[in-house]
Amino acid sequence: MRKFILKLRNYFFRDILNRLNDTETAVHVLINDPAYKHDARNGFNGLAGRKRIFQEILNHVQIERIIETGTYLGNTTGYMATMSNVQVLSCEKNSTLCDLARFRLKDMRTISLEHMDSIAFLNRLARNHEITADKCFFYLDAHWGKDVPLREEIAIIASNWKEYVIMIDDFKVPDDSGYGFGSYGTLEQIDMPSLHQMYGLCASFPAIRSDRETQPPTGCVVLMQHDTYVRIGENIKTLRLYSGHSQPA
Ligand SMILES: C[S@@+](CC[C@H](N)C(=O)[O-])C[C@H]1O[C@@H](n2cnc3c(N)ncnc32)[C@H](O)[C@@H]1O
Repeated sequence: MRKFILKLRNYFFRDILNRLNDTETAVHVLINDPAYKHDARNGFNGLAGRKRIFQEILNHVQIERIIETGTYLGNTTGYMATMSNVQVLSCEKNSTLCDLARFRLKDMRTISLEHMDSIAFLNRLARNHEITADKCFFYLDAHWGKDVPLREEIAIIASNWKEYVIMIDDFKVPDDSGYGFGSYGTLEQIDMPSLHQMYGLCASFPAIRSDRETQPPTGCVVLMQHDTYVRIGENIKTLRLYSGHSQPA
């Protein structure tokens, strides 16, 4: 009984703390950072090496649309829209953050933001054949909360899109412990062997060592179909193919 009451108290307390936190963020953003600025600090957490990876992907794949999960304040959304000149669709499940991002990005016509959960968002896009026919770059970053449904997000993409590149933020780089990551961001958590078997996906990691990346560095993984990797992956010098169980058969 005591445990139950504590759980209940924590639950409500957490909600109040989250609301206070959102209000503080909103006040700070509206006063100090009311519009997206295209500078070195913004986009991909300010990681210069990550930006090079993104640019190389744009150089080698004719990306026609970008889809992001987890907008937060829209800094990576704004960065990707500016660098690519293609439409960027992004979703954010927190209504305050979604409103803030909409406000900050209101002058950028190629961006469309939805107040939605990532799974519902991807499922909705997957029903639009114009969108699934496009070569899409996915940035999976809907990562705050108890459940991080990365595996499900990847499955929706891989079962519905013909050609795509997926980048996942906060991912463990297997042989470079200098890169930070979330507990959800590992090859084991996304069950890479089954993604390889079911969808022919290969995993690549930053070729840039963590001590050469902007500090503090967070890791990422890039998933591509085997055919896409054969066609373009080897030309992307900022990435290296993972030689473990994600290797093409
Ligand atoms: C790490 S932040 C995203 C940062 C942003 N992509 C950037 O680079 O600036 C994670 C965001 O995902 C949102 N989020 C968490 N779970 C989500 C979900 N299931 N669907 C949509 N958004 C989610 C959080 O509210 C938070 O704003």
